[in-house]
Amino acid sequence: MRILSIETSCDDTCITLLDANKNSFRILANESNSQAKKHSAYGGVYPNLAKNEHIKNLPKLLRKLTAKSKHLKADLIAVTSGPGLEPCLWAGITFAQELAKKWKVPLVPVNHMEGHIFSVFGKNKGKFKISLSKNNPARGGGSFPVLVLLVSRGATQLVFMRDWFRYEIIGETLDDAVGEAFDKVARMLGLPYPGGPQISRLASQARKLKIKNYELKIKFPRPMLKSNNFDFSFSGLKTAVYYLVRKIKLNQKTKAQIALEFENAAVETLVYKTAGAFEKYKVKTLIVVGGVAANRHLREKMRKVSKNVLFPIPELATDNAIMIGMAGYLNYLKNPKKKYKIRANGGLRLGEMIK
Ligand code: KG4
Repeated sequence: MRILSIETSCDDTCITLLDANKNSFRILANESNSQAKKHSAYGGVYPNLAKNEHIKNLPKLLRKLTAKSKHLKADLIAVTSGPGLEPCLWAGITFAQELAKKWKVPLVPVNHMEGHIFSVFGKNKGKFKISLSKNNPARGGGSFPVLVLLVSRGATQLVFMRDWFRYEIIGETLDDAVGEAFDKVARMLGLPYPGGPQISRLASQARKLKIKNYELKIKFPRPMLKSNNFDFSFSGLKTAVYYLVRKIKLNQKTKAQIALEFENAAVETLVYKTAGAFEKYKVKTLIVVGGVAANRHLREKMRKVSKNVLFPIPELATDNAIMIGMAGYLNYLKNPKKKYKIRANGGLRLGEMIK
């Protein structure tokens, strides 16, 4: 079965054609367009600009995709319906609906977060296999129960899974998501958007050079470590950076020190809460997904929480349509229908749809 998938929940327009055979996938073609440069001036994503870019890019990317794959049609279309920016989600949904009508094929809605969870199966760029048997969640062995740490620009969540498609959100951020905090701190330091990779680059340089021993002695808070739950909060950490930045002179060295201490504080908090949940819920496999899962320091520390930890390959950590195609296909197999009810839902929660 060929699946065309579309992802437009934020500022990346992504479209993929997958060939699926039971649990084996092959990428036939994959096209995307990042709007990061266009939004850089705003220090974040400007929703209406993003929506218009999606509307402009989708037909172009589809033309490229069909030219490359030489397939003019798919058997199923999958589209992200939430969570995300609603005007952007509607851009993808409307485009997908028109195509599904023209091709006379089913259109399945996909929860973006569920897509991120399936992103750990993409082992290499071309082909990959996923195993949905209960005792073998993924390539590296391990088994259920699974704990997922979802860290992106829009979400920071700990999700407990007894089986595939069964989600229990056991903790989440009460304010900013960790990716958002990375982006905002980068902006305070005058670094371009998206800020995560920039902060991470500066922090690892500083770690190598041991810049923390230079003149600036800083310590940012590790928020909510003492709270008796698995929730997070990153706005206090962000504010601590803001007040420091107002007080000191920014130069290469102080920027690197701030990036290092901020990354340490954010990662320590994520690791502490994840390790606590891992132990309490007697988890066997840990999955870390979302844009921030590309962070090297986080990966290194999470490997210490469990040997059975799965990460997406870096290309699949940030938003992409490959994970949307996989999640759409698997949901379709579970519940094949000719017509699904689809509407954009900016605040869609895991497990809320396609029952
Ligand atoms: O998952 P994603 O592409 O977007 C959402 O669906 O929300 O995540 C994007 C986020 C951005 O905040 C970006 O700064 C962050 O992931 N990010 C990183 C790194 N690479 C991307 N944060 C920290 N370290 C990185 N290496």
